[in-house]
Amino acid sequence: MSEMRCDLHCHLLPGVDDGAQDFSQTEAMLRAAARCGVTDIVATPHLTKPEQLKDLQKYRDLLAETQALADAHGIRMHRGFEVNYRMFSGLDFSFLGDACFDGSTYFLMEMPTRRLFPNWDVVLSKLALAGYTPIIAHPERYAYVQENPAMVEEFLSFGCLLQVDAEGLYGSLFSSERITATNLVRHGRVHFIASDAHGPEAYRLYERAMRKFAPLLTAPPKGGKKGGRTGYAPSAH
Ligand SMILES: [Fe+2]
Repeated sequence: MSEMRCDLHCHLLPGVDDGAQDFSQTEAMLRAAARCGVTDIVATPHLTKPEQLKDLQKYRDLLAETQALADAHGIRMHRGFEVNYRMFSGLDFSFLGDACFDGSTYFLMEMPTRRLFPNWDVVLSKLALAGYTPIIAHPERYAYVQENPAMVEEFLSFGCLLQVDAEGLYGSLFSSERITATNLVRHGRVHFIASDAHGPEAYRLYERAMRKFAPLLTAPPKGGKKGGRTGYAPSAH
């Protein structure tokens, strides 16, 4: 049986965000992903406001249609969202049942770029108590991580996992993003490399990044929290 390779951050659902705009682009992304050995993709459209979830059926239908295309490439699709930090402003986590990966307790969380929001530690602590595992998307992009990479220890202390973008590892040389991403991976702080693909070209960098850095990834703890609800649980590679 061949090895599972899961890309857990990808904007390939057509026409819902700034990723693929139609099914021909979705198809091109699937082809590019399959070429670099991806076996599983979590579709993670941006989730920035609760109203988007009123259209949940639309996302589910698009995912089912994408799965039909993915079958030809031997790729399994999983549902998820890239959940923006603004979604947590009311400390109401009830929406997470729809936003976690395949109904599990894992979800992709996008933090602010410039500075952390005021009650970020309260949010992360309550999420941990409720049994959720946020996967922090592209920490290398955040100014406060670039300035003080050791602050990711705080994220990790709340049980968060870290995901860097392939583009972060292979962006322009000497950029803060690249230096930060590389250091985090080299210091064993990163659990996942993902494409964060908005188009098929992202998979060229993904392939390079996985070849060089996948051996340095840290495996997430097995079973998740509270024994884990059933459902999809990500693996490091
Ligand atoms: Fe993204």
